[in-house]
Amino acid sequence: MKELKISTQKILEELSKNYPDQKHFRKNVIESTAKSMGYTGKDFYPILTKENRVKIGTYDLSALIQPYESNVVDLPKGSVAKMQSIVNEEKTFAKVDPTFVPWGAYHDIVKVIKSNMFYPVYISGLSGNGKTFMVEQACAKLNKEFIRVQINPETDEDDLLGGFRLIDGETVFSKGPVLKAMENGAILLLDEVDRATNKIMCLQGILEGKPVVVKKTGETISPANGFNVIATANTKGKGSEDGRFTAASIIDEAFLERFTIAVDQKFPSPSIETKIVKNHMDKFDTKDDDFAEKLVSWADIIRKTFYDDGVDEVISTRRLCHIVQSFSIFGNKMKSIDLCIARFDDDTKEAFLDLYSKVDSGVNFDEDNNGEI
Ligand SMILES: Nc1ncnc2c1ncn2[C@@H]1O[C@H](COP(=O)(O)OP(=O)(O)O)[C@@H](O)[C@H]1O
Ligand SMILES: [Mg+2]
Repeated sequence: MKELKISTQKILEELSKNYPDQKHFRKNVIESTAKSMGYTGKDFYPILTKENRVKIGTYDLSALIQPYESNVVDLPKGSVAKMQSIVNEEKTFAKVDPTFVPWGAYHDIVKVIKSNMFYPVYISGLSGNGKTFMVEQACAKLNKEFIRVQINPETDEDDLLGGFRLIDGETVFSKGPVLKAMENGAILLLDEVDRATNKIMCLQGILEGKPVVVKKTGETISPANGFNVIATANTKGKGSEDGRFTAASIIDEAFLERFTIAVDQKFPSPSIETKIVKNHMDKFDTKDDDFAEKLVSWADIIRKTFYDDGVDEVISTRRLCHIVQSFSIFGNKMKSIDLCIARFDDDTKEAFLDLYSKVDSGVNFDEDNNGEI
């Protein structure tokens, strides 16, 4: 696009503000808008080009007016597009976490990342069983740049690819996390991708390893060597039948087809999970091997019952780590468990507490609680 004078840009801005959804403008509307702003013919004539004219006295300004669609940026609707684009240069690396216990698909993920190939991986599994942490730690170990995007039903092209931002008084195109990951050859983690709506369909080509044309600037971005996409989700993209993941949407079959492999992650085995719980106890300086083992057996029984449809809730690895943290604060086993399962309905909560007291016959609910919960 030819650089337009500030006054001409201001007229375009005013037009798109006054007529937000309009693309075709009558010459007299353009003229009167310009004049109402104190401008003259030399300011609005550059808008009235032969290429823009759709019929006598009517001009299509869609190439000049940048409709503004996103809800995250601070620009008024209808700012005029500028072609300059920027990217935040900061590289993002995850830190190695000493509590992390490698297991399951972790070693495969490491191999995939090491291969440097474009090889999209879809990891599904129940919430809190370590999917996100596993990918983050694989990148941390390999010192590979890791860019995580948390997907929600509002996530759209502007959040993913980027959008216009007002920087130092200039409207510039700021590249989003996906373009940054492509250019840097980083691992892009699309976290909880099954919460997405079809607003993320702009990723389709990117998931094939193809360059992407950024519609808003006309720029083409090609994936650098080492770029790869890993997605996590609670469901396998077919929605959630039991209503547990109400935010989970049905992912377009064609979108899922783009992933080279899919991994279904279960909960860790009791011996692995005991290590995880103990590592968290070390982190929170509250070592209690017996409590660690009992917590894991308790969670294991609940999971088996859950798979047999005996209960509606499950205790995740994340929840066990939360119980450990609470234990480090309150120094009281039953209270810590109680607080961490308080969000479940009363019957479920009672049943889980009762089960714990059976697993750990040494725990005395009242004494251990000093009579308070
Ligand atoms: N392998 C592991 N080693 C250590 N801690 C783990 C491990 N897996 C899960 N956790 C704990 O559980 C929490 C939740 O894991 P996360 O990856 O966020 O779950 P998901 O993404 O599957 O919902 C982590 O923050 C961590 O505290
Ligand atoms: Mg996660």
